[in-house]
This record gives sequence, structure tokens and C-alpha cells, in this order.
Amino acid sequence: MISIIAAVSDDLGIGKDNDLLWHLSDDLKRFKKLTTGHTVIMGKRTWESLPVRPLPNRKNVVITDVAAEIFPGAVTAYSIEDALEKCREDKEIFIMGGGSIYRQFMPLAGRLIITHVHSAAEADVWFPRIDMRKWKVAEKEEHSSEAIPYTYVVYHRKK
Ligand SMILES: NC(=O)c1ccc[n+]([C@@H]2O[C@H](COP(=O)([O-])OP(=O)(O)OC[C@H]3O[C@@H](n4cnc5c(N)ncnc54)[C@H](OP(=O)(O)O)[C@@H]3O)[C@@H](O)[C@H]2O)c1
Repeated sequence: MISIIAAVSDDLGIGKDNDLLWHLSDDLKRFKKLTTGHTVIMGKRTWESLPVRPLPNRKNVVITDVAAEIFPGAVTAYSIEDALEKCREDKEIFIMGGGSIYRQFMPLAGRLIITHVHSAAEADVWFPRIDMRKWKVAEKEEHSSEAIPYTYVVYHRKK
């Protein structure tokens, strides 16, 4: 199962200056709970943005075009296909960004785990539009009383 996991603003922003737009502690906890024990795939810029590298207790896969680049504690992949080949035996794969990686994996994912953050934050990287002809809402949970309100939505690909 390939799942995309992201926190996305109402206008699809996901990051600025190679950092997240918000640090929602409950969301980060949920991310950790869902991904621990599994595989996370990310682009090189997202890897560089992590405060702790690799993310502990997960197989970290980092995608780059730069031949022979090494990311200590992570598996290096040189294309989307190479990343998938290196995760062939893995049961749960989470695509954790950033923008370029989300776009390329969107056609391959079966599930989107999205925290829709209801805040207008200036961004320089965006999430691809979710085409509701292809996706259906499987779970939805409003968190409207938080300082920054958000809605947690899990989408499944329509058959
Ligand atoms: N809100 C969220 O949930 C969330 C989650 C993750 C990240 N983010 C944010 O997203 C931003 C980073 O996203 P980004 O789009 O700038 O960067 P990114 O997707 O993390 O990484 C881009 C890099 O990945 C490599 N890459 C991508 N596709 C490739 C391919 N097909 N083959 C080989 N290499 C490939 C390239 O590395 P080389 O240049 O080395 O070739 C490219 O420069 C940051 O602001 C981060 O905080 C947000």
C-alpha cells in the first residue's frame, strides 16, 4: 500500500524556505504513530529539512538525481521507479514529501492522508490538486477548536 501523507493549507501550500508552514504537535504525533515501523520516501530537500535524520524506527528512502549521493542512515534512490524497487518487499510505504515527490507519486498512491490546515500561510511549495473524480473520502475528523484549526481527511482511490 502506498500512502501519501501531508499537511496542506486550504490553498494547497505545504512549505516555505524548505520548512513546514506550521508545527502542529498533534499532527506530528499522528505522523509518527502512522509511519513508525514502516517505510518513508522523501525528496532530498525534505530530507535536508528534517531536524532529526534519519527519522527513527523507520526505513528512510531519499530520492536524488545526484549520482553517488549518500544520506547516512537512509537508502538512496535515483528515481521514483528505483525507490519503489528498493521498497518492493515493504508492506506500508508512506510518501512524505515534498511537493515534487507528492506530484510524482500521486498517480501511484492508493491512499491520501491529509491534514487540511485552515490557515492562510504564505508558501513556496504546493500540494497537487486532489481530483475528487479519482478520490473518495474514507475518514474525516474536524479539529475546529485548536489554535490553528484543521481537518484530518483520509482519501481512498476510487476503484
Ligand atoms: N506540509 C507537509 O506535509 C510537508 C511534507 C514534506 C515536505 N514539506 C515541505 O516541502 C518543501 C520541500 O519540497 P520540494 O518540492 O522543494 O523538495 P522535495 O520534493 O523534498 O525534494 C526535491 C528533490 O528531490 C529529488 N527528486 C525529486 N524527484 C526526483 C526524481 N524523479 N528523480 C531523482 N530525484 C528526484 C531532487 O533532488 P536532487 O536535486 O538532489 O536531484 C529534487 O531536487 C519544504 O518546504 C518542506 O518543508 C511539507
